[in-house]
Amino acid sequence: MVRQSGGEAVRCTAERKNSGAATTSISPVDVCATSPGSLSAEALRSSVMEIRMDGKAALVTGGSRGIGLALARRLAEAGADVLISSRREDGLKAAAAELEGLSGRVELFAAHAGDPEQAEACIDAAISAFGRLDVLVNNAATNPYFGSIMDVDVKMMEKTVQVNQEGLLVWSQLAWRAWMKEHGGAILNVSSVGGLEVEPGIGWYNVTKAAAIHLTKQLAFEMSPSVRVNAIAPGLVKTSFAKVLWEGGRGEAIASWLPLRRIGEPDDIARAGLFLVSDAASWITGEVMVVDGGAMILPGGGIAAAH
Ligand SMILES: NC(=O)c1ccc[n+]([C@@H]2O[C@H](COP(=O)([O-])OP(=O)(O)OC[C@H]3O[C@@H](n4cnc5c(N)ncnc54)[C@H](OP(=O)(O)O)[C@@H]3O)[C@@H](O)[C@H]2O)c1
Repeated sequence: MVRQSGGEAVRCTAERKNSGAATTSISPVDVCATSPGSLSAEALRSSVMEIRMDGKAALVTGGSRGIGLALARRLAEAGADVLISSRREDGLKAAAAELEGLSGRVELFAAHAGDPEQAEACIDAAISAFGRLDVLVNNAATNPYFGSIMDVDVKMMEKTVQVNQEGLLVWSQLAWRAWMKEHGGAILNVSSVGGLEVEPGIGWYNVTKAAAIHLTKQLAFEMSPSVRVNAIAPGLVKTSFAKVLWEGGRGEAIASWLPLRRIGEPDDIARAGLFLVSDAASWITGEVMVVDGGAMILPGGGIAAAH
């Protein structure tokens, strides 16, 4: 089935391979009836709504690994040209090599997300490489401090705010001024379920993730109608950033409490993120999409409640 949405083809390519039988198309309703936990990676790939981003250009901060790399892969697979950015060029080169051969072109640019001058140079690099900038994914974040917010020092506070909160605004302002104000676009801010709940240890980081949610709404209001701004709030995802939360059997323990019985993979977030920046979401702005395996519906709210 092919539908037109905002000039962009959105094809529902739901397919299911029956044992030994030919591939069959199934409706999106059938897809929803399938348990997400029971889908293989291959089945998942062929069962999601196919979103095309041909002719578009995207910039993903923190694009060298984890959720950012998964988002860059989904965008490039969908046909978008993608510039990935992070601090370390060696990590970016390795990521770009992984993305080689996909539908969209991939470029890289090393920049610290909390440095406005480097941000400006990066936005300029994306526009000079692709001639446009339709999508900005503000994904890079930092968490230099673990412990009670009663003990966090001012230096740590400021570093976290500079990248996770001010960075989101600075990159969005730059994208707006350089391209989006005149030509439109979509911004995705990667927040966290931590921005919606109280947790021990990562309280200050979570405050910045809550700020990212409010900033998303404010930006969506101020950048409308030409630019849509949405946030995604991942639960626990298996990346190096969150290693301390899932290694040593902790991930399995959390998975056993979660309604969907597994912790997240970066591509769980990337598929939802691709939807939010695509024309398939053309009437969605200022929204926060929670993608957490059901953690936030646990009685009492969130993973912390299950401890
Ligand atoms: N994993 C989870 O469970 C989880 C849950 C909720 C929300 N999130 C959010 O998801 C986003 C991505 O996290 P992740 O788990 O995918 O982490 P990750 O695998 O550690 O990747 C982080 C990426 O950000 C880059 N980065 C880190 N600090 C940066 C800075 N100051 N400037 C520019 N780039 C920087 C890293 O590359 P360099 O080291 O080269 O800079 C890397 O590309 C973050 O916003 C995080 O808060 C993650």
